[in-house]
Amino acid sequence: MILSIANQKGGVGKTTTAINLAAALAMRGKPTLLIDLDPQGNSSMSFIDIRTAMRSMYDVFVDDTVHLAHVIVPATLPNLSIAPARIALAKLESRLVGELDAPFRLKDELAALDGQFANVVIDCPPALGLLTINALVASTHLLIPIQSSYFALEGTDDLLETIEKVRQRPNPELKILGVVITMHDKRTALARDIQEQIRKVFGDKVFRTVISKSVRLEESPAYRESIFTFAPESSGATEYYRLCEEVIDRA
Ligand SMILES: Nc1ncnc2c1ncn2[C@@H]1O[C@H](COP(=O)(O)OP(=O)(O)OP(=O)(O)O)[C@@H](O)[C@H]1O
Ligand SMILES: [Mg+2]
Repeated sequence: MILSIANQKGGVGKTTTAINLAAALAMRGKPTLLIDLDPQGNSSMSFIDIRTAMRSMYDVFVDDTVHLAHVIVPATLPNLSIAPARIALAKLESRLVGELDAPFRLKDELAALDGQFANVVIDCPPALGLLTINALVASTHLLIPIQSSYFALEGTDDLLETIEKVRQRPNPELKILGVVITMHDKRTALARDIQEQIRKVFGDKVFRTVISKSVRLEESPAYRESIFTFAPESSGATEYYRLCEEVIDRA
């Protein structure tokens, strides 16, 4: 499974979902690769000290002599590897202007890994530009985190339109695995209304598991740990474990 975590809206829980799903998949014993495509590098920083990484996804995209296998580093968690991002990725679009194969670079790099990883999780940046397109073209599946907030559904039309375009030509196989509601506060009536609204729009695409608001989920990256080792008894650990089960069932 090559699973993109995408939503062009910022701060909706993409990175939190990517790091904890990747960890959950790795903990099931399957070699798992987490690719960070966000110039902010948040998912890289959640597992490694990126100052120690010699090269990053930026080099993979722009330098013909650097391949995905060259930038992959092990995380402290067994079975988990990271392909890190750096701020340089922010200038990728301007570097690749006019390159006809630009949207296919990640797909080609993943093909060259030749099934070394049972699972690949891709953390996308908050934009629908070339990086997210590379992720969608390379993926078998897509997971969309939607934050439980008043403006939750704003912008999802643009996202769905982009997904449809990718499906028409470069990647007809791409499957929307589901929508996960994040940062949910079940105590408020507003949050319950929003959940209902999201379920009305996306129907059974919405995962049964809802990710609650949890300080533990915010804290764990600072300790370079997933929620499963940082706070194994927390709601976040239980919920991301359940989400992983649903992901595997649907894939
Ligand atoms: N379930 C949660 N409960 C509490 N805080 C959360 C939860 N999920 C994410 N957060 C926090 O909300 C912020 C945004 O989350 P995150 O970085 O995962 O979103 P993102 O979609 O990757 O953001 P960006 O678009 O900037 O890449 C972070 O500070 C994160 O720790
Ligand atoms: Mg992020």
